[in-house]
Parts: sequence; structure tokens; C-alpha cells
Amino acid sequence: MYLSGLWYFGALGEQLKPGQHLNIELLGQPILLARGFDGEVFALRDICPHRGILLSTGRLLEKDGQTQVECPYHGWRFGSDGKCAGIPSLTKQQSLTRDLSKIKTKNFHVCEQQGLIWIYQGDEKPTDKPIWVDLVGAATPKLSTTTVFNCHVDHAVIGLMDPAHIAYIHRQWWWRTEKSMHEKSKNFGPVERGFTMLPHTPSSNSFLYRLLGAKPETEIRFQLPGVRVEYIKIAEKYVVGFTAITPVNEDKSQITIALYWDHPVMSLLPNALLRKGLDIFVGQDRDAVNAQQKGLAYNPKLMLIHDSDVQAKWYFSLKKAWELSQKSGTAFQNPVKPKTLEWRS
Ligand code: FES
Ligand SMILES: [Fe+2]
Repeated sequence: MYLSGLWYFGALGEQLKPGQHLNIELLGQPILLARGFDGEVFALRDICPHRGILLSTGRLLEKDGQTQVECPYHGWRFGSDGKCAGIPSLTKQQSLTRDLSKIKTKNFHVCEQQGLIWIYQGDEKPTDKPIWVDLVGAATPKLSTTTVFNCHVDHAVIGLMDPAHIAYIHRQWWWRTEKSMHEKSKNFGPVERGFTMLPHTPSSNSFLYRLLGAKPETEIRFQLPGVRVEYIKIAEKYVVGFTAITPVNEDKSQITIALYWDHPVMSLLPNALLRKGLDIFVGQDRDAVNAQQKGLAYNPKLMLIHDSDVQAKWYFSLKKAWELSQKSGTAFQNPVKPKTLEWRS
């Protein structure tokens, strides 16, 4: 089961030029994501109501000033609202006596902001906007990477937020070494549909943080359904790391990392080098959860310990509280209370 009544990250805006479309799988359903010739993004259930072929195997065309999706099988056309706009095999007389707009493939609410395309999942109309990335204004990401983990979204989420794995899975000279492990104490508090590691000066055990110079200040927010944003402020400048963990289906999760910055040191580093670093990093997480699957296949009992797994516990209680609010139609009560967590990493 998936959480509903939420915006899920779908794709990066830069993946679609006007007139282009792609097929994605989100929450176990096929979605055609497209950018119309007018530049507007739309999303349809990627299944032709006629005989079920993926609409995304067809093409986008412009008709009467509107963007339409043409099914490759029998040429039925659908508007960006999902309503049928034409059936070529009908005679003129047949066309006149049929209300084609009753034939429909579901269309989803979409929102594009800050270079991110969000798709709403829920039966009701969305009552709010997707997560807004602070500090960056209307900027779009300068760098991004996408990876698929072969695991349920819960393992991807708790694997990425877990502080205790860093010294093991991500052990490398430019980030952490075993010797750099030390005791940490971080203050957390609730934020909208999530929690945050409150602004603090990060540990000096990372070479990358040292590179950024003068006392960076970091805040890391996690929000449902699975968005983690790391804000690094260095004097007046910023580096922001956005991570979306989106369920593709029950056994697959897509991880998208997008970086925003206006810090000059980041612009000095070649993009290819930054991307390589990111890919190594996410690759280490991916290899870990993929290896974990071999154990999970035997359905073992698992443990979450204090304090290093408390964020994972919060994630599960946030999910529960969200489900409850959706089911009962009552306001969501954030179960997270301000707390200091301590661990070694
Ligand atoms: S299957 Fe799409 S038009 Fe026939
Ligand atoms: Fe990790």
C-alpha cells in the first residue's frame, strides 16, 4: 500500500522538452508524462482505454492548438485532460452521434516548480502545493542523478536517513574514514509532515565540508512521502541537496538527487567530477540495499535501535499518522516531538 493524498516526485523538468513524453512507473501504475507544445506538463494513466496499449508508445501532436496524444494502435487521440478527442475509424455520422469525451484515461494533477515535476496521488483534489525547496528561489538544479534501488521504498528511505551506516558504506578518504568516527549529538524537531535535524555546524570529519570554507550551517529535513533536503548555508551562499525517494512499485524505488547551489567553490568543481562523486555515493547505498534484499527474502525479524534508528522510527510513525488522517478525514497530527539524538558516526 502507498500513502495517498500526497505529491510524489515524478521527474526532472529538464527531462522533457515541449512535445516530448516519457513513460514512468509510479506507485505500481504506468504514467505517461508529457510536456505539451505550449510548455505545460501533464500526466495521464499510460493505458489506452480502447485496447490497453501503452499510450506512450504513440506520439504527441498538435491539433486545433491543443496537444494530443495519439495511440499508435488505432489512432485514438486524447487531450491533456485524458479525454478522447478523436477516433479516426468513425464515420462523420458516427462521430456526430457519440460523445467521445466520455471515453477517458485518468489524468493526474501535476505541478512543476524549481525544475522538479510532481504528480499528485489521491482521489480528492490536492489542497496544497508540493514541497518547496527553500533558499534556492525559482532556480533549477545544476546537477542531478537518478538510480533505481531494487527494494521497497521503506528500506530505501530508512537506508538513506540512517546515520550509522555512513562510516561503513560510505567509507572513503574524501568523506569519512573509520578514524573520523566520533560521538554526535543533534537536535531534531517536527516540520510539516516530517522532521528536521535543526541547523547546526556539521562535523569537521568531512573533507568536502572543509572545502566549502567558512563555517557551513546545515539543516536536513525529511518529509513524507520520501523527500530529504539538505540545506548547507555558507555565509550568504548555499548548496542544497534534494533527494526524492519514490516508489516505482512494491519492489523498486527510484532515487533522484538534484543539487542546487550558488556557492562559487561548487562551480569551480567540474560537473563530471561532482556527478561521479554523487554516483559513487548513491551507488554505495544501492549496493547495500540490494545486498540486504538477499537477507530480507527470508523474512527475518528486524530491529531499530536507539538513538541511531530513531529517525527510521519517526518515518514509520509519520506514515501511520498520515494513513490515519487520510482514513478518518481528520487533521494530520505530527507524532514527532523535539528531541536530541546521540550516536557515533
Ligand atoms: S488500443 Fe489505442 S486506439 Fe486502439
Ligand atoms: Fe547512504
